[in-house]
Amino acid sequence: MQKNKKLLLLPGDGIGKEVMNEVRRVVDWFAKRRAVAFDIEEDLVGGASYEAHGTPVTDAVVEKALNADAVLFGAVGGPQWETLPFADRPERGLLRLRKELDLFANLRPAVVFDAMVESSTLKPEIVRGLDIMIIRELTGGIYFGEPRGIEELPDGTRRGINTEVYTTPEIERVGRVAFVLAGKRKDGHVHSVEKANVMESGVLWREEIQALHDSDFQDIRLEHMYADNAAMQLVRNPHQFDVIITGNLFGDILSDIAAMLTGSLGMLPSASLGAKDPVTGMRRALYEPVHGSAPDIAGQGKANPIAMLLSYAMMLRYSFDLPEDADLIEKAVSEVLAGGLRTLDVMQKGMARVSTGVMGEAIIRELDKLSA
Ligand code: IPM
Ligand code: MG
Repeated sequence: MQKNKKLLLLPGDGIGKEVMNEVRRVVDWFAKRRAVAFDIEEDLVGGASYEAHGTPVTDAVVEKALNADAVLFGAVGGPQWETLPFADRPERGLLRLRKELDLFANLRPAVVFDAMVESSTLKPEIVRGLDIMIIRELTGGIYFGEPRGIEELPDGTRRGINTEVYTTPEIERVGRVAFVLAGKRKDGHVHSVEKANVMESGVLWREEIQALHDSDFQDIRLEHMYADNAAMQLVRNPHQFDVIITGNLFGDILSDIAAMLTGSLGMLPSASLGAKDPVTGMRRALYEPVHGSAPDIAGQGKANPIAMLLSYAMMLRYSFDLPEDADLIEKAVSEVLAGGLRTLDVMQKGMARVSTGVMGEAIIRELDKLSA
């Protein structure tokens, strides 16, 4: 018998813990009903790790993440840690994991479920049937560029510095992920987003993406767009987009916009992928909901577990090549939403408001039904 794959669960802070509880139930369901079994470890990250160990992620946890077949991540952060020095903040734990696992490609799908068309703040005809994939470069750009820091100037004022920097290989490897993915989608095409009108790093981004296209992906339609225009176009006419490839900072911003097209941040999963291991063929991977730790609603059973459950589905799809099992979760979510259950973040008139746990339970019952 094959050895079980290793999963590392890092619930983190705030609602991260609650939504991870629901994933655990779904993991158990798949182990029992579909023989998709994992060896599971759980550990601390973010503020929870800071409280226990004085650092937002320990070397031991980084080591565990490096050795896991996939990491499921909840969320990090909270007001009690916002005044800590930069290096101790919960977010640094996540950023260090992304960097040390070299998870350079962040996939953020924005899909509008039919049942959710009315919960978007945009008009139904603008968002109906929407299916966009944002691919955000995740280990470079201004998030990690040097020099950085805050320095004292001779006149007693201060200067804050961050550096936007990209190299050819960094652009090429994430660009390749985007084109390959677009090639697998119906009518797949790519928008590459930067600010080549004001930034040299944007000029390089545009040239390298174009060169990659011309050498290896000529059959895939490519358009370039400035980031400010892309933000505007995303709310004006999102259907023009299919795959968007962009750098770390613009990807952070555009993916929040795309998320709101779907009705709520509480619905959006993500996958952060590294390079394929030449021996095993596996990629390092971390899966996390796009929403944060939402400290204002933490511990009250108000959180929407769907983004976390869909992140688990992405894990089955991208790390373990189990598309049918991933489809099953996505179908169950879609059915439960069609049945009228809603957590607070997506609540609408005429729907039934439920807690995190009841939503998780309903999705499990739907899985039972679908696989009966
Ligand atoms: C995200 C988050 C993170 C980011 C924070 C928590 C560091 O906003 O994953 O989009 O800025 O990348
Ligand atoms: Mg963000």
